[in-house]
Amino acid sequence: MFAIKTYIKNNILYPKRNNKFPDRPVSKIKIKAGLWGILNKVKNQKKYTGYGHLVTYPEKVAANAWKMLLPYNPNNLGNWSIKNLEPNHETAKVERDLILQMIDLYHGNKNELEGYVTTGGTEANIFSAWLGIKYIEKRGIERDKICLIKTSLTHYSIEKAADIVGVPTFIVPLNDKTWNMDAWGFEKEVENSIKKGKKGFLVPLTLGYTVTGTNDPIKKISRSIEKIKKKHRVEFFIWFDAALNGLIEPFLNNEFKPFSFCEIQTFLTDFHKFGFTPLPAGIILYRKELRQLIEKPITYLEEKDNTLLGSRSGIAPVACWAIINLWGKNGFKRKIYENLKYKYQFINKIKNNQNLQIITNDNSLTCAIVVENKSYKFKWLSEVYGLNFKSENILFNSGKKNILRAKIHFLNH
Ligand SMILES: Cc1ncc(COP(=O)(O)O)c(C=O)c1O
Repeated sequence: MFAIKTYIKNNILYPKRNNKFPDRPVSKIKIKAGLWGILNKVKNQKKYTGYGHLVTYPEKVAANAWKMLLPYNPNNLGNWSIKNLEPNHETAKVERDLILQMIDLYHGNKNELEGYVTTGGTEANIFSAWLGIKYIEKRGIERDKICLIKTSLTHYSIEKAADIVGVPTFIVPLNDKTWNMDAWGFEKEVENSIKKGKKGFLVPLTLGYTVTGTNDPIKKISRSIEKIKKKHRVEFFIWFDAALNGLIEPFLNNEFKPFSFCEIQTFLTDFHKFGFTPLPAGIILYRKELRQLIEKPITYLEEKDNTLLGSRSGIAPVACWAIINLWGKNGFKRKIYENLKYKYQFINKIKNNQNLQIITNDNSLTCAIVVENKSYKFKWLSEVYGLNFKSENILFNSGKKNILRAKIHFLNH
């Protein structure tokens, strides 16, 4: 310990920044000193993170799950729903229990749905686009006639997903008042794309835009789809990216039933955001019959796999399972109300400032602060609350607007 402190005090943290692969082993004490140095820097980094960053501090029980199981490095390769779970598949059994509990939370039908634990929203969006493209192709539409429909605020992982499955993306305007996908704009964009020869549409709807916390209106979009389908022979594959609000909405709204809309094919949320679980931890739920569109044999085992990755952490599901059992619905509710209180205290402080506008959803712990008057000196907000302001072009019903905004996440910092 003395030696480590000396290293830190003298600022000789090892390994020093370099880009050469070591020829010989480095002494353990130097590695330990390096780890201490990194730990101190990470602690500092977290201390100075403001409301602008989505920083989750894991609950002790979830962090402990990692500490306890890490020496055994359990691997949840494949999918619990395909294989017969053997006595040596303990963490896969926990994953199965967790997924069934989550289906229950969303009032889904356990005979019709299944899912698995992902590394987060990006993986789950790519997975959904992969399923979507196969689903539409199976209905006789070639890939070059498929496109993806999104808004200016849709998370950038959707652009990655579109790129990977090889389809172009089109932007639907946001509603000027509600800052979510405009149903009329949606119909217009789909009609335009049909005129250009498109016949298949991947549509990721967002439940909690990263910047505003606002939700896309599934009821309205579903009515628009019905109308379009009466006029044209086209196919849709719709999913809910609820990375942000998926662990908030069901605790504040008993009627939250995403799969009650027959158009919704997959639903994703993240535990490492508002679920207080270490990275990486998210879930994807999907309609069971979709699985056969993508499953592959694991050639060296008597098993099939329909997940996006190969080896997967067996600890992440245990950490998520620990959290939901530690808190239950009441615990989540308590935590959310605690943080909503901070959100409304913040909003009350600045709501009378004519130069600023707050965009949010009542049931979200995220909001955007928009600078309405560009000559307004907004820098104090960055200094006091640690916000990053960014100017971006956003397509609204009324046209393209250049918006200066910062995002805020209300999580016990
Ligand atoms: C709405 C939304 N979708 C997807 C993601 C991607 O999640 P991850 O970074 O866990 O891959 C984010 C991340 O902030 C998000 O806000």
